[in-house]
Amino acid sequence: MGREYRVAVVGATGAVGRAMRSILAERSFPVKELVALATAKSAGTKLDYRGQEIVCQELTPESFRGVDLALFSAGGGTSLKFAPMARDAGCVVVDNSSAWRMEPSVPLVVPEVNANDVDWHGGIIANPNCSTIQMVVVMKPLHDEAKIERVVVSTYQAVSGTGHKAIAELLEQTPKVLAGEPVQAVVYPHQIAFNCLPHIDMFLEDGYTKEEQKMVNETKKIMGDQSIRVNATCVRVPVWGGHSESVTVEFVKPCDPDAARKALSTFPGVILEDAPASSVYPMPVRSWDKDEVFVGRIRRDPTVESGLTLWIVADNLRKGAATNAVQIAERWIEGK
Ligand SMILES: NC(=O)c1ccc[n+]([C@@H]2O[C@H](COP(=O)([O-])OP(=O)(O)OC[C@H]3O[C@@H](n4cnc5c(N)ncnc54)[C@H](OP(=O)(O)O)[C@@H]3O)[C@@H](O)[C@H]2O)c1
Repeated sequence: MGREYRVAVVGATGAVGRAMRSILAERSFPVKELVALATAKSAGTKLDYRGQEIVCQELTPESFRGVDLALFSAGGGTSLKFAPMARDAGCVVVDNSSAWRMEPSVPLVVPEVNANDVDWHGGIIANPNCSTIQMVVVMKPLHDEAKIERVVVSTYQAVSGTGHKAIAELLEQTPKVLAGEPVQAVVYPHQIAFNCLPHIDMFLEDGYTKEEQKMVNETKKIMGDQSIRVNATCVRVPVWGGHSESVTVEFVKPCDPDAARKALSTFPGVILEDAPASSVYPMPVRSWDKDEVFVGRIRRDPTVESGLTLWIVADNLRKGAATNAVQIAERWIEGK
């Protein structure tokens, strides 16, 4: 039997933390002991791991003593403060927040695209933004085929991307709107039920949001190509889970829809669902609990010399967060 690891999940009670516990078990990650960490409010809460009860503990600077691997999903502030403490305690951190992603000494990894970047980590490895992950998994084989010059993306992001409080807000508002009752917006600046908000994360001086900026910068870092131009519009929609994206890609070399379908159909982690005449195309409800990225509606962009428009969907809590983090951890073990 190979080595087993003491694994901490920071943010174990959250939407991503819950997915992490499931995925570690499903993928038979070699866990010797799972340490569940969250705020003081959750200390003592009983959580499930592989059908067994584990007791959540409060995250403290001492939490990482004897821990080999820590999967963080507890927000940027928590990662900024505690990831270096974990690293200094000899633990390898895979961080889901945006705190470390653009730090030059920290690899930003989507294993299907740049798994080898795990090899140069210095104790912290960053997991990209959920919308970026699903886009680059599809972009990689197309970039290899015809070199991507420019990308224009509009996202349709589910409320689970904001965490468990946002899921509760959608569920609470929906019947109230149907009953004609007033709703209260707490998590989002406006009602989310039966609405779309072109506002994810904070607005920046240039009129884009931080979420949109993340898609621009993270894509270049993961793809290892600063020349790729990305223009993003990120929209929150009243969907429980599964982010969708309309992506238009412009290439340097010719790339027709058939060549793209061929390249995508054999690429790891991608499922081609592209038979629109039979109403077959990716949809968020079909992405639930799946680890793959789904792509369809592949068609030529007639407004440029070489370009395609595609529709990309993935489960944001899985491939957009927990699955990608566990895949990074698996790659770290392989490289040891
Ligand atoms: N949701 C997604 O699709 C997604 C995708 C990619 C990345 N992420 C990132 O993952 C992180 C968590 O997201 P989520 O959706 O799981 O949020 P969530 O459902 O709100 O859960 C947040 C978790 O973090 C814990 N936490 C918060 N502050 C903490 C602190 N100071 N110390 C210790 N634990 C703390 C919470 O513990 P309590 O329960 O005790 O409050 C809870 O377990 C965020 O950084 C987010 O940006 C999320």
